[in-house]
Amino acid sequence: MLFAPAILRAQQPIVIKFSHVVAPNTPKGAAAEHFKKLAEERTQGRVKVEVYPNSQLYKDKEELEALQLGSVQMLAPSLAKFGPLGAKEFELFDLPYIFGNYEELHKITQGPIGQGLLKKLDSKGILGLAYWDNGFKDMSANKALRSPADAKGLKMRIQSSKILEMQMRAIGAIPQVLAFSEVYQALQTGVVDGTENPPSNFYTQKFFEVQKFMTQTQHGYLGYAVIVNKPFWEGLPADIRKTLDQAMKESTEFANSVARKDNEDATEAVRKSGKCQVLALTPAERLAWKKAMTPVYAEAQARVPKALMDEVFKATGFDPAKL
Ligand code: LMR
Repeated sequence: MLFAPAILRAQQPIVIKFSHVVAPNTPKGAAAEHFKKLAEERTQGRVKVEVYPNSQLYKDKEELEALQLGSVQMLAPSLAKFGPLGAKEFELFDLPYIFGNYEELHKITQGPIGQGLLKKLDSKGILGLAYWDNGFKDMSANKALRSPADAKGLKMRIQSSKILEMQMRAIGAIPQVLAFSEVYQALQTGVVDGTENPPSNFYTQKFFEVQKFMTQTQHGYLGYAVIVNKPFWEGLPADIRKTLDQAMKESTEFANSVARKDNEDATEAVRKSGKCQVLALTPAERLAWKKAMTPVYAEAQARVPKALMDEVFKATGFDPAKL
């Protein structure tokens, strides 16, 4: 390589390794492939994007380290996984019932508050490029979780977020942080009793094989920030970077346009599997879950500044006191 003629060296494509932990047929998996396609086509092969799904290359914690070390260039971790990086403000997205729907969520992720949060990653050698949607989480277990009291004493797998820990404790469950790639086996062997995830992950990871009930609690949001190694991204030739920024913009629109339907389809597929019962909640039952989780808002101020929470409430019109 060192002694190759300049012309050959110039022909080597710039490689972007994009590692993620979910299946290719999820909102994130499909958007990663979409970005690859646009990036490769529009740079006419000057950029090669290698997508590694399903924790093939790295698991949750390792992938963040790998990005900072430059072993991979692009990731899209769940917003619940930025706490261990020292960016605990992102845990605001984990607050129970904070977004009633995608429209309210987009006021934050596609607005100035979301952009401000991404800027906080700069000091970690990371550039935040975009937010990609997944969806709203359901709770699952081998028993029917109709009321929050049904979760009492259950070991529930969570992502590495202190606010998710508070949320599980608020309903009397025992939170257990596990990498996403370990969840299926942990459910199968009884290391944990249940979990929470949007249906798209629940279905594609086949959790329905090892959980008898999925309750449509829709109690919190799970989505992503697409992040890159900052020195790498800033070192790209200007024309390439411009093309990739545009490809990212379009991939974000793509991700956010498929997420809702993906989750609806996945719910239907879980139902059709015949292995896991999907439980709908009545308005009164839903209210009981909301009430049980309300104390998290006071506790969460240890992680997310009150002023930031207030800014979010103002932008979305949400008021936890009215839960
Ligand atoms: C999880 O660990 O449950 C999720 O963050 C997985 C993902 O990336 O959607």
